[in-house]
Amino acid sequence: MTNLDLKIENKIATITFDLYKERVNKLSFRVLEELDNLLDEIKDNSELEVLILQSAKPNIFVAGADIKEIEAFKTEDEVYSNIVKGDDIFNKLENLSIPSIAYINGACMGGGLELALACTYRVATTNPKTKLAFPEIKLGFFPGLGGTQRAPREIGLINSLDLILTGKSIDAKKALRIGLVHEIFDDGQKEFRLKSFIQKVLDSEVKKKKQSFINNFLENFYFTREFIYYKTLQSIEKKVNRDFNAPYMALEVIKQTFKKPFEEGIEVEARAFSKLAATKESKYMIELFFLFEKFNKGFKKTEKPISNVTVIGNGVMGKGIIWLFSKFLNEVRIKVRKLDQVSSIISSVSKLYNSSLRRRSMSKNQVEFKLNKLSYTQNYDGMQNIELALEAIIEDERAKKDTFLELEKVLDKDSIIATNTSSISIEKLSSELKNKKNFIGVHFFNPVNMMPLVEIIPSSHTSKKTINRVTELLVSCGKTPIVVGDCAGFIVNRILLPYLNEAAFILEEGSSIKQIDKALKDFGMPMGPFILADTVGIDIGYKVTKILNDSYGERMPISPVLDRVYNDLELLGAKSGIGFYIHNKTFKKVNEDVTKPYNLNRQFTDEQIIQRCIYIMINEASRCLEEGVVESVDVINFALITGAGFPPYKGGILNYANDVGLENVLNHLKDLHSRYGIRFKPSKLLEKLVENKKDFKTGGELWIS
Ligand code: NAI
Repeated sequence: MTNLDLKIENKIATITFDLYKERVNKLSFRVLEELDNLLDEIKDNSELEVLILQSAKPNIFVAGADIKEIEAFKTEDEVYSNIVKGDDIFNKLENLSIPSIAYINGACMGGGLELALACTYRVATTNPKTKLAFPEIKLGFFPGLGGTQRAPREIGLINSLDLILTGKSIDAKKALRIGLVHEIFDDGQKEFRLKSFIQKVLDSEVKKKKQSFINNFLENFYFTREFIYYKTLQSIEKKVNRDFNAPYMALEVIKQTFKKPFEEGIEVEARAFSKLAATKESKYMIELFFLFEKFNKGFKKTEKPISNVTVIGNGVMGKGIIWLFSKFLNEVRIKVRKLDQVSSIISSVSKLYNSSLRRRSMSKNQVEFKLNKLSYTQNYDGMQNIELALEAIIEDERAKKDTFLELEKVLDKDSIIATNTSSISIEKLSSELKNKKNFIGVHFFNPVNMMPLVEIIPSSHTSKKTINRVTELLVSCGKTPIVVGDCAGFIVNRILLPYLNEAAFILEEGSSIKQIDKALKDFGMPMGPFILADTVGIDIGYKVTKILNDSYGERMPISPVLDRVYNDLELLGAKSGIGFYIHNKTFKKVNEDVTKPYNLNRQFTDEQIIQRCIYIMINEASRCLEEGVVESVDVINFALITGAGFPPYKGGILNYANDVGLENVLNHLKDLHSRYGIRFKPSKLLEKLVENKKDFKTGGELWIS
């Protein structure tokens, strides 16, 4: 059982990566050991002139290090001793007496790119699947096998910082432009193009790409270099909280080691990497990576996946959903109320393609082709072949039910009707339908093009087949669906709204909007609760809070602030330019009309604000588990990270609760309950967990019936 194969032919050694019984090539320590042995063989063979590294897997060169191994490391020392072994092997490759060439056809990520960088030359194919990246930052660390040292030497400081700190992937053309690879060509031309590249290598004709004049200038002088570091730090600070260390440490390592001797640099990198890879943050980021994998695999492949859909409703959500389906599916039919809506739909949908054009993942022609394929109808004509109808009209039970009745008249008996309702019970919405087993809730998040999460909500009648087909459809469209129970607010809104509401209660009691927003942003939320309310729309926030209040009663009251801002001041938030903030193109300032009635002299500490806003979410999340509306703790953690922006490096709301200690959370909730009443009443499950000295990781038997 080997993973690497060595062939020697005409003085050319070729190592082919083909991991045994694996879909992708990963760099485990076992694979590195095999590489080490082959390199020894090559070193000892004085006949050889060149070494080629390639992969036998379709569309994959090497997809990265084996993350499971990194996840399993417990201590810094353990990481360090292993990483040094890896460094030695890559150094051996780099220091061979013959030149080496990485032939990259497909994904070349993380450790794979570091391996390629340890080769003397790199050629990449123009295959659209050929992508090069250092995605490590998304896992809470940075390239640890020489990437922070070799990349700046090959592509300069500015380009390396860009790749290492963002984790973004680039195609072969861009890689050629910045000098990350030396030549690109079509995989179909491999035989003769690689041969002629080898000849050029042997004739010493391959030139290293020169840096642009401006990059070269900026990187070569102390003060301009310091300016680069300063600007980079500023841009990290804008996007990433201080307690997520990876990008800060990566910048520091590069800053400390740029232009220093390689041996010194690699040691600094290994030490810093080991520190990061052993942290809880990194373990949580890895956990999240695997959760994406798990939920993306949560279906059985069908013989005929859904490829033919209709969308009814073309407001904010409808347009996003039309864009999504147009991008991934063959046929999308749009039901409009008036045909003159069509041009506005095309214009909005085409704007959503802009980022694909910018990233050059799609060409203009490809986008036009997608837009031209959309078809429109003012009535329900031409829907007999539709496999799924997705409704995204206004949040009105009667209007939605009428739409479903119309759809049921024209659709085939196997067709699925899905609703994007954000709050109305799926059971209720399906009550007048004959074919209830094919009805389901599919709750997208706004903006559809940015949010990976979709909540799938079956009613008690929805068939397993329907759930499976919809899951398959969403995954094929690049979304990650979770299945949740049919309760008011489903999961994300049910847990998130009490947080927004609590922020409003704190404002009423005397903390400023700015302080509350800042405290929660510093905690790690992507934005403070008031900016979030303005961004989502105060009308939407109010309506969902009202529905939660109707369902859960006093436990989820509508805060007087929200009531006043929506009903008396009639503010809508960012979309109308005014809400808790006044939104201008260049700045936003707090809207004094909102805060006027409150005496803002009574200050709460940031810690008190965080406890009130976050612990109320923990309590609600615990209720969701207790009621069985989710299958596992993983679903809640994943939903809150990907749907509500809970800091991923804190592991999601329930991992965070475990870390601060459930007894601690319970005691605070009890105290808040006695002061503020029922909305803080601790859930029974939380009490039981503390009583039994368990937590959300160890106490499964207390909520799984
Ligand atoms: P919107 O107000 O932007 O769009 C509603 C659309 O429905 C408009 O195109 C309107 O012309 C159409 N419409 C209105 N009355 C209709 C009727 N009687 N029959 C057919 N079409 C009608 O609303 P938005 O925000 O796009 O929401 C649509 C649905 O998605 C709602 O159920 C909402 O709860 C849900 N949702 C909204 C989210 C958001 O953040 N906006 C997030 C997730 C779900």
